[in-house]
Amino acid sequence: MSTIVHVVGARPNYMKIAPVWRALTRYEVDQQLVHTGQHYDPNLKDVFFGELPLPAPDVELHIGSGSHGAQTAKALAALEETFVRLAPDLVVVPGDINSTLAAALAAVKLEIPVCHVEAGLRSYDRTMPEEHNRRVTDHLSSLLLTTCADGNENLAREGIVDGVRLVGNTMIDTLEEARGPAEQLGAWAPLGLERGAYVLVTLHRPALVDNPALLRRTIEALAGLSAYRPVVFPIHPRTQARIDDLDLSLPSSLRMLPSLSYTSFLSLELGAAAVLTDSGGVQEETTALGVPCFTLRENTERPVTITEGTNTLIGLEPERIADIPRLLEMADTSRRPPLWDGRAGDRAAVAIAELYGLSLRVPVRAHAPGERG
Ligand code: UD1
Repeated sequence: MSTIVHVVGARPNYMKIAPVWRALTRYEVDQQLVHTGQHYDPNLKDVFFGELPLPAPDVELHIGSGSHGAQTAKALAALEETFVRLAPDLVVVPGDINSTLAAALAAVKLEIPVCHVEAGLRSYDRTMPEEHNRRVTDHLSSLLLTTCADGNENLAREGIVDGVRLVGNTMIDTLEEARGPAEQLGAWAPLGLERGAYVLVTLHRPALVDNPALLRRTIEALAGLSAYRPVVFPIHPRTQARIDDLDLSLPSSLRMLPSLSYTSFLSLELGAAAVLTDSGGVQEETTALGVPCFTLRENTERPVTITEGTNTLIGLEPERIADIPRLLEMADTSRRPPLWDGRAGDRAAVAIAELYGLSLRVPVRAHAPGERG
């Protein structure tokens, strides 16, 4: 039987890989899940395995934090050893984090083919570590599963045409599955908020949070926005550490929370009047939910969320945050990109099965009385 190894390392990876994993269980293949340990906080890691249709990792590598070079190198060395031991026929990597790049590089050097889930995204911003990670991973991959047509176009511009399959957005499969429970949870109520009457914020990118003056002005602008609508801000540990250094006094209408579980965050997202973020995945989720999103970045690798979704780039200047009440009046929340339909994991599994000759498992059926086995 063939073996497929999936490599994850940080929070957004789990939502992207879970639907592919699940769809592949219908095929004759042994799947193994490897976690590099890039994220190690229980709030960024363990909590997700309890709530997503993903088993606990078979292998944990505990690489931890570090500079980009050190973190990628540790993951590369540990993954090489793991791949030698597990001898997979295919390595599947989602997204654009340091663990993604390390896994793709370790695999190809061992002549193991790589499938990249969420291929073809480009911000064309070479100051973003993720841009290098996704670009190199695409060039190392044999099967490139894209979320939208502009992903295919970006790849074609770089000469990558073979092995590219537009399957849609697997992260939206996970969202569709969790939407009912997230609605039911109503995570706004215990915070004393009304549905549709608060703004949700997430910030973690180094370009913003590692610049103390910019972070201070951004937080002050959020405090100003909270006079318009209460602002809820679940905080990534990286951002929390930087805010702790700033010694700010904040109004109670700006609610800081620890990082949340997937269902709790999704619940706050779908109940929000608007979301402010610098995350990639949140731009996509808000588009799927029809919630207006304002992205605190100068560019996005996900332009489809602007052209066919609810996203508006407002840039890094904190003064723009004060425009949000006015921008919200004009928000168009009716669009959704094609193939963001909750079936992308199935299409990903079909693409993998076709390329690697996997056959469907024969369903095991109880014998009817008198039927010969
Ligand atoms: C990483 C990804 C980013 C993704 C994000 C999701 C890269 C280059 N970046 O960014 O693309 O959007 O995950 O969250 O791979 N830390 C903790 N606990 C943890 C993990 C990190 O406290 O469990 C803190 C540490 O101070 C660490 C810092 O966060 O140094 C950065 O963590 P790292 O995983 O390197 O990058 P993220 O900012 O999380």
